[in-house]
Amino acid sequence: MALKYQRPRGTHDFVPDAAKWADDSGRRQYLEDKFRALCHVYGYGEVRTPMFETTELLRRSVGEETDIVSKEMYTFETKGGDSLTLRPESTAPVLRAYLENSLHTRGGVVKLYYCAQHFRYERPQEGRYRQHEQLGVEALGADDPALDAEVIQLALAFFRSVGINSLTLKLNSVGSIESRAAYLVALKAYVEPYLAEFSAEGQGRYQANPLRMLDTKNPRELEILASAPHLSSYLTEDERAHHAAVMGYLADAGVDYENDPFLVRGFDYYTKTAFEIQSPDLGAQNALGGGGRYNQLVETIGGPPTPGIGFGLGVERALIALQALGVDMPALPAPTAYIITLGDGAKPVGIKLLSDLRGRGISAETEYGARSMKAQMRAADKAKARYAVILGDDEVALGSVQLKSLHDGWQHKVPLAEVADWLSGDTGGKPPAASPLLPK
Ligand code: HAM
Repeated sequence: MALKYQRPRGTHDFVPDAAKWADDSGRRQYLEDKFRALCHVYGYGEVRTPMFETTELLRRSVGEETDIVSKEMYTFETKGGDSLTLRPESTAPVLRAYLENSLHTRGGVVKLYYCAQHFRYERPQEGRYRQHEQLGVEALGADDPALDAEVIQLALAFFRSVGINSLTLKLNSVGSIESRAAYLVALKAYVEPYLAEFSAEGQGRYQANPLRMLDTKNPRELEILASAPHLSSYLTEDERAHHAAVMGYLADAGVDYENDPFLVRGFDYYTKTAFEIQSPDLGAQNALGGGGRYNQLVETIGGPPTPGIGFGLGVERALIALQALGVDMPALPAPTAYIITLGDGAKPVGIKLLSDLRGRGISAETEYGARSMKAQMRAADKAKARYAVILGDDEVALGSVQLKSLHDGWQHKVPLAEVADWLSGDTGGKPPAASPLLPK
């Protein structure tokens, strides 16, 4: 029986010219290129880490009671008996790499970016997949609120650079492990009378990690929690001052934000600043990206105390928003030349010319499989080629080609040896503008 081909649920293939932009490889590449270029402007260098990490690293960093660790990890045991997990996020892996490659000994702030695939066993729906790509940064080595503002501005600048302008920036400060302790006592005291109305999961969190109650999507729990005490009332002087300074830098830069006292972002590692960028152009999964500070995480992983901040932006969600907005990206460039051959003698000459043109950096295509002149011309038009280079047996005998502009319609005979020069505009000293044959 034939194998039934089907990709695993919640995953996607990325192909050229896909109808859904989230599945389109060209548009995805465009976003990645934009992000890389912007990261270089901001002084970030690329980090690439393995697709899987030890389960222990992720469990300890992200937190036992989080949705990610308790429900969503792809964990497997190796033949050697080690427990590994497909990375569900990149902050912990990047910090592990930072320590393992001694980047912490370089001094100053180490600024890293990534374009990486992540794996979470979530219920698939529009904007939520089991494999998703994040464009992210991590900046390590300073607790300066100016760095928080830089990281937030970089995320916003990326969305604006690709045409997503209507954005909501949600901001909060989640304090530190120590300052949260007093808050959690207050939160538990507030929830206690309602505890029977909480789900089993909510009750478990109440016991094991009360902050994670705030990650709930359960409507009744959300209703109850809407009147819960705010973490902001429990922050230390330093944490308050930090938050005020971040807001000050954002205001100076003209960045609008909304303080959201319940934004705790589903990870145990955040300290001080937490932020999320939302889009009204997305449906239920409206978070385009999010991030925050994690001043105690490097220590959790076993390194020296090192503050840090970063974000991750969802590529699929950015593509969904762009498609909803109808903001397209530049198409991949069409070929300069399309080589058309007629006859057995012309074919090898055409194939040699194809390779010579490409060798000169001129994008060129041809038709494979013998077809009529008409069919090949149609293929050249479909490829949106700028020129057709036509080779029949007669042309081969004369050592020439017919060069036809598919934009302007003119056609000229050109010596075979000069085709590459004509097409590249390198006419051996002749001023390009003097020739009607030259590419515009
Ligand atoms: P996160 O909020 O879990 O943060 O993910 C960042 C972004 O990735 C989300 O806002 C969303 O756009 C996208 N995303 C997350 N899960 C999915 C999914 N299942 N399907 C599609 N898109 C998804 C983090 O992962 C943190 N590590 C970010 C960070 C970096 N914080 C500090 N540094």
